[in-house]
Amino acid sequence: MACSTQQSRPHWIPATNRLNATGKSSMDYVAFFDPSTSRIKRLETEGFKFSRGLSLHGMDIARSREHPSELLIYLVNHREPLEGKDDGREVGADSVVEIFETKPGSDTMRYIATFKDSVIVTPNDIAATGDEMDFYFTNDHGFVKTGLVCLFSFFDFSNLNEYIVGWMRIDLDLQARRLNIDALLDLGWSNVGYCHAHKGCKVAADNIVGANGIVRGSDGKYYVASSTSGRIYVFERQTDDSLVLTDLIPLERSVDNLSIDQTGAIWGAGLVHALHLVNVHFETPSINTPSSALRITLNEGEGSYFGEKYKVEKIFEDSGELASGSTSVAYDSKRKKLYLHGIAAPHLTVCDVEV
Ligand SMILES: *[C@@H]1O[C@H](CO)[C@@H](O)[C@H](O)[C@H]1NC(C)=O
Repeated sequence: MACSTQQSRPHWIPATNRLNATGKSSMDYVAFFDPSTSRIKRLETEGFKFSRGLSLHGMDIARSREHPSELLIYLVNHREPLEGKDDGREVGADSVVEIFETKPGSDTMRYIATFKDSVIVTPNDIAATGDEMDFYFTNDHGFVKTGLVCLFSFFDFSNLNEYIVGWMRIDLDLQARRLNIDALLDLGWSNVGYCHAHKGCKVAADNIVGANGIVRGSDGKYYVASSTSGRIYVFERQTDDSLVLTDLIPLERSVDNLSIDQTGAIWGAGLVHALHLVNVHFETPSINTPSSALRITLNEGEGSYFGEKYKVEKIFEDSGELASGSTSVAYDSKRKKLYLHGIAAPHLTVCDVEV
């Protein structure tokens, strides 16, 4: 788990336009939960001596191909801009992807490398590829598109500059949803990026609506959740490392993050009340907000004849008392445990769930 403090979240979540770097935490850390003992252990860093520290968000872990006893940890690090803490609101975060290495059970992680590139703009989540040289990631707000500025006349914005950094981000998506302007919601201004240690980074898939969680399926395809439109994009990797869309899975609600269980099923954190999550719970994390977990599998039943390739089931939903603000859910199909956590959530929730 990539962990931070609840106090810092109202100030610093670049994905939702919280860019007050003065209030951000720089001491975030990776912790593991051991399901056999239910203990949480925090990893100390080794060799990571950068003054801007770690401000974590999405991550992935993969076994190293060259050294199978080692694990590689990929972390989104939302650093404050070099110019200074006050500039966060103007220029956004100076986000990078950090690579660490550890061994199962170890309580340290060793720093390996930092990926900084103009394609890494607003990174949200990372998917390892199985090769240690490269990874895919989502930019939840991609690039600022020219021509978009005219849309601002819909709203009464007095300071356009501020909103180009600010409201251009997810708040505009949410605003559009609230006002029911579908045309705005369907503007795909997020993307999936690809980085390779020698070849550098590039945009692998563009024009995605609200790209958020990304996961590599057991079929080798990449699944990307749309946090604003309620769908999952299914991509196939090409020889040039770009991604080609092969399917769109419609969902009845927006999903934040995705994970995959040992049987190959995809799990998504379904957003029950996205505006409440982003505007109320992120502002005051102690206020609970509902959570849900969706499970997506290949449809082997009757519906498959009628073009329903995927089966989507809601496995869990809670008012927020047990699981508040879950933006990530993960299922352990061996132990039959469902894990739920969130970017500003008060705790990890573990449920016995049989599917
Ligand atoms: C999404 O979930 C995966 C799997 O549980 C996790 O590794 C990743 O850090 C999560 N990303 C975000 C942005 O929460």
